Amino acid sequence: MTDVNNTPDSGQDPSRRDFIHIAAVGATAVGGAFVIWPFIDQMNPAADTLAEASTEVNLADIDEGVTVTVMFRSKPHFVRRRTQAEIDEARGVDVSSLPDRDARNVNIEAGAPATDENRSALTAMVDDGVEVDDALRAAFLVSGANCTHLGCVPTGEAGAYDGWFCPCHGSHYDTSARIRRGPAPENLPIPPMTFISATTVRLG
Ligand code: FES
Repeated sequence: MTDVNNTPDSGQDPSRRDFIHIAAVGATAVGGAFVIWPFIDQMNPAADTLAEASTEVNLADIDEGVTVTVMFRSKPHFVRRRTQAEIDEARGVDVSSLPDRDARNVNIEAGAPATDENRSALTAMVDDGVEVDDALRAAFLVSGANCTHLGCVPTGEAGAYDGWFCPCHGSHYDTSARIRRGPAPENLPIPPMTFISATTVRLG
């Protein structure tokens, strides 16, 4: 796990705060394959790749208005529990006005429109027998954390649209992590997600 996000809003050192949250959340890189099978077939992916094949995040440990950053497949990802105001703001956007109208979400049909519903954890799969509160799913936005311009990690709760701001070349993302202004060509991508319990989501 690596702490790479900044969510300045409380006067706390954001790096320290996020580290604490990540530790509490206990995002877990699942490396069972490496532990169980000491002899890895040379045709299989390297052990370090297997070790990050999936990442589990306990959403119950993330307070409203807080973003944590977890590593998934060697890349940082934002996990944010949005406020109702942020959700309303994202849902109020006319998709036809967006620079990138594609949801960029592998959990749903390719090319689906970039509505907030299509970007949120409402689109995550749910394991059999698991029940997840829709309000919880709607509140969570999970996305890649590398700017789609040249890969910098944007700053949270910043920019002209109250989402993320990439200071490298001035890209503004909204509260649904959709690009709204600047050189970044695409929305931040939504990773594969599955709820494996009422409050635990697995990336991968
Ligand atoms: S890397 Fe983000 S704007 Fe260039």
